[in-house]
Amino acid sequence: MTEHQIALIPGDGIGVDVTQAAMKVLQAVAGMESFTLHTGTFPWSCAYYHETGAMIPQDGIETLRGFDAIFLGAVGWPESVPDAVSLHGLLLPIRKAFDQYANIRPHRLLPGVEGPLKSGAFDILCIRENTEGEYAGAGGRVHQGRDNEVAVQTSIFTRQGVERILRFGFEQAQARRGHLTSVTKSNAQQYSMVFWDEMTRALAAEYPDVTVSHVHIDAMAAKMVMNPENLDVIVASNLFGDILTDLGAAIQGGLGFAASANICPDRSAPSMFEPVHGSAPDIAGKGIANPIAAIWSGAMMLRHLGEDRAADRVEKAIAETTGQGIGIRPGSHGTDEITDAVIAAMKG
Ligand code: NAI
Ligand code: MG
Repeated sequence: MTEHQIALIPGDGIGVDVTQAAMKVLQAVAGMESFTLHTGTFPWSCAYYHETGAMIPQDGIETLRGFDAIFLGAVGWPESVPDAVSLHGLLLPIRKAFDQYANIRPHRLLPGVEGPLKSGAFDILCIRENTEGEYAGAGGRVHQGRDNEVAVQTSIFTRQGVERILRFGFEQAQARRGHLTSVTKSNAQQYSMVFWDEMTRALAAEYPDVTVSHVHIDAMAAKMVMNPENLDVIVASNLFGDILTDLGAAIQGGLGFAASANICPDRSAPSMFEPVHGSAPDIAGKGIANPIAAIWSGAMMLRHLGEDRAADRVEKAIAETTGQGIGIRPGSHGTDEITDAVIAAMKG
């Protein structure tokens, strides 16, 4: 029997609830499809920070490296730990250490879920560059607090970084409907984004089965609202992808349905799977967090591990559950109720 080693980092707030819910579903499907998920749970969180002075122990990254995948709930408790500390102390070090350069998020409307758009017929895969670009952290401030203060922040686009995210995008398009939309702003950003466009055109020759569109970020924002049904795979820089994926989450009905993966495509290190939402302190401990985003992220993890049949089964069960009206409106069903409905649908 195939065995997969999964590192669980439930984190804070509803991260704990939704991790538990997702693992219940994944263990159930593992039983049905005859593979084993071995889990190791790590309490790294804001509470852990209070106890130890760090979000993650010194050897934490090396510990995670031995796993096949990482499943994360959510991290952050702004009342007691500044978000910059929790984010930079745990999430970002993992993404960086394991070169998880592709952040991918599926945006489609599950049956029964009411999105804000008239048309619900869209199925988009957003791919965000996750390691450089506008978030490379290059810059500085001088003369702080004085009239002549200067702040500079420079985007970094490397040939290697741009090429690898574009290739990943082309490959995803090949596996889907064969269309790639590259999002830039090359009319205004005449160095970095023109470079990105040139790389896209050069690589397109190697993927003749993929049709490519070039769209500027501002036009793209409108397109995702007006004609999302024409989009297949979107590839964008770190900042543009960040913004577009929030828009994507909104059109698919909100954070309760937004799943994501941080992928290390060459598999030299584990990839990390997590719902897009945070720890939701306002509803933590109430048993009403929607686990669907986390369960969907779990299905993405199974697919990454090569368990396609199990992933299909989980995704189908999620769709059946929302199709029955379960988990489609905030607070209408509890976390456990939704989780049990997904498991029941997998059995059916
Ligand atoms: P949030 O995503 O935690 O919550 C935003 C709103 O959406 C809240 O009203 C919340 O109740 C609701 N919500 C979110 N997920 C839900 C779910 N599954 N079911 C039902 N309602 C849901 O964002 P917020 O409040 O800005 O951040 C809270 C903390 O989480 C902060 O410390 C932040 O830094 C952290 N955070 C962590 C992330 C991560 O670990 N990847 C991502 C986003 C935020
Ligand atoms: Mg964001």
